[in-house]
Amino acid sequence: MLNRVNHQVLKFKKSGIRKFAEAAAKMEGVVSLTIGEPEFDTEVVIKDAAKKALDDNYTHYPSGQGMIELRKAISDFEGKRNAMHYTSDEIIVTNGSTEGLASTFLALLNEGDEVIIPAPMYVTYLPMIEYCKAKMIPLDTTKSGFQIDENDLNALVNEHTKLIVITSPNNPTGVVYSKESLDAVKRVALKNNIFILSDDVYHQLVYTDDFTKLSDDPSIRHLLIVTQSYSKPYAMTGWRIGYLMADQPIAAHINGIHSYLVTGITSFIQIAAIEALNQDTSEIKRIYFDRLVRCKKILDEANIPYVNPEGAFYLFINIGEFKINSEEFCLKALNDYKVALVPGVYFSELTDHYIRISYAVKEYDLFEGLNRLVKMVKDLRQC
Ligand SMILES: Cc1ncc(COP(=O)(O)O)c(C=O)c1O
Repeated sequence: MLNRVNHQVLKFKKSGIRKFAEAAAKMEGVVSLTIGEPEFDTEVVIKDAAKKALDDNYTHYPSGQGMIELRKAISDFEGKRNAMHYTSDEIIVTNGSTEGLASTFLALLNEGDEVIIPAPMYVTYLPMIEYCKAKMIPLDTTKSGFQIDENDLNALVNEHTKLIVITSPNNPTGVVYSKESLDAVKRVALKNNIFILSDDVYHQLVYTDDFTKLSDDPSIRHLLIVTQSYSKPYAMTGWRIGYLMADQPIAAHINGIHSYLVTGITSFIQIAAIEALNQDTSEIKRIYFDRLVRCKKILDEANIPYVNPEGAFYLFINIGEFKINSEEFCLKALNDYKVALVPGVYFSELTDHYIRISYAVKEYDLFEGLNRLVKMVKDLRQC
């Protein structure tokens, strides 16, 4: 019967990251540096708020766009952080940022449209773009220090270009796009009337003072869609809640598809999400930054090259010297050294000489895993 189902869905591939994570989970003694998930548990006050909301019978259908109390809280929260102010009308509460991304693609893309994304890139964009029968156009950033070169970007634009997706800090590189990169994106988008989707899930995990954001520039308001998540800063991956913000007509348009997809996000979780916005996330950020410094020291001492990250919780490590592809490298690491890593090829064919580690994993796993990686590199260098 599979020949009668939706052909676009048949083309979906299982996430390579999950494949490695699952293989690692089945093997004895493996430490996994694969998944970008905080090891911490959600704060007690947030859990208490959800428990109380249940007792208060927040168990009925929610508003499709999101509870007005939560949307107002998000509007205040974001208004204090960005020059662009979004009203509660311009905010949609989503099922994690994943659904915000999917709803945006579904609401904006027509068959034949093109979406430019700096490569390497986060893995869940492509399937939804292809589902819309649109085409993903990778922008090679490997030759420009993983930043965006305006000439390279311009060269990819044509009359089919509908959207540019920006992820800063980036997954998998951890790179924060410079002012020059974002100015280039804005100039190209404004000149050609191209939407910009800013995937901001790592905005609270930035380790540099020099942080330029698209959401600080009202001149692109009519083109910008911002997706946000509770998953990473509040350790709420399993709660499945996030939000998106866009200029009112665009937000209303995206809300059309969002409401049909999910009806709304679990009522008592929305109440807890108001509480989450009151939490100070600086301690979590400090812990990640401290880990980053320690990881970099280990890699530097072993002379292992990597892309210098300024945010998120990933290190993108260059394995080009070994002349084996990233999947082979990761299979060897898994089978011979019992450490699970993510092949760089999963983020782009252009980065088959990289592997990604996440330093959000359990602290013991992180440093044990890194030691195993260093041992493997030393052994390979002796071959
Ligand atoms: C860049 C990026 N966007 C979106 C997501 C999805 O986050 P959520 O849990 O909010 O769906 C992730 C998760 O790893 C991510 O790395």
